[in-house]
Amino acid sequence: MNDLITTVTDGFTSRFDAAPAGLWSAPGRVNLIGEHTDYNDGFVFPFAINRRTVVALSLRDDRLLRVASSFAAETVELPLDDLTPENLAGWSAYPLGVAWALSQFGADLTAVPGFDVFIDSDVPIGAGLSSSAAIESAVAVALNDLWQLGLDRRVLARVGQLAENRAVGAPTGIMDQSASLLGEADAAVFLDCRSLEAEVIPLGFDAAGLELLIIDTRVSHAHSTGGYASRRASCELGARMLGVTSLRDLTVDDLARAADVLDDETFRRVRHVVTENQRVLDTVRTLRAQGPTAIGDLLDASHLSMRDDFEISVPELDLAVETARGAGAIGARMTGGGFGGAAIALTPSALIPQVTAAVIAAFAAQGFGVPDLFVVRAADGAGRQE
Ligand code: GLA
Repeated sequence: MNDLITTVTDGFTSRFDAAPAGLWSAPGRVNLIGEHTDYNDGFVFPFAINRRTVVALSLRDDRLLRVASSFAAETVELPLDDLTPENLAGWSAYPLGVAWALSQFGADLTAVPGFDVFIDSDVPIGAGLSSSAAIESAVAVALNDLWQLGLDRRVLARVGQLAENRAVGAPTGIMDQSASLLGEADAAVFLDCRSLEAEVIPLGFDAAGLELLIIDTRVSHAHSTGGYASRRASCELGARMLGVTSLRDLTVDDLARAADVLDDETFRRVRHVVTENQRVLDTVRTLRAQGPTAIGDLLDASHLSMRDDFEISVPELDLAVETARGAGAIGARMTGGGFGGAAIALTPSALIPQVTAAVIAAFAAQGFGVPDLFVVRAADGAGRQE
């Protein structure tokens, strides 16, 4: 984190010839369970991780927006008066999309000054750990402070989601930004994506001698393309055919009727969402009653449902999950939107080296690319740096 603070401060100063007014940061997230349930008004249980995006930001005297980062040589410039989703492209659509999206939640863009921002991040890109939500949330808290908007964190999560949907063009839900904004150390965020009520629940991994191992397959994915949108469309079709507002309105008891009404593929998409919502509730209940050593089976069941019913896994994710389980993880599943990215393996601390070695060996034996494995901890959500 100290390194990032230095790069961002130095980067800002050298690109913009002045010290920044302040630094803000926001974490990536990992989802413990509850996949493709957020846009179905369902339940999710992610946590903010100890990998962050840091932004340095200053307001300007005029109405120009300038965006720079350590991952691109260019500095993007846009007058505030030209700020529309249609005018945004490339990586700067994330920070500038947030500035635009704030206007949809009350910010008067005709009355605010422009800004300079410099961004750096150690959230791995394309690993399914929400590097994009980390940028959006960091910029959202920074502008909320400096433009003195007084928006609360739940609203800022919607701002980030809108930026992602409209400026980036990915039809994603509210989970990632909520985790990044509402997360707390050693705890996960149990979020009802319909009411946006959130409860922060202690994970107790340390006390149980467990760690969460990320297995980044390095198979890259993008949710602004095909698979994600088609899964979302199947869910909407299923809900329409079953006469409900969203799949959240169904329970496991409705599945027999769903099987009669729906074609096989739509039925399996629906079954994933309905059973996954139940698994989130079961995970929260089990965690509270018995602690984290008892949630492994739910993680495993979630993976099978995504592999077989929702069909968003890839061979690398399946191999990561199976190998981690075989080598001592107590539960494992792919995490995030799917079609690549990372798996998680809840693993006794002492077995981390063994699980890591087994996964690397299994990938080599299959001729897959070298995966990246690292442990993450639950960290605090977005905020201003002291
Ligand atoms: C991506 C999206 C989230 C969510 C997950 C799947 O991470 O950004 O909104 O839909 O996929 O659970």
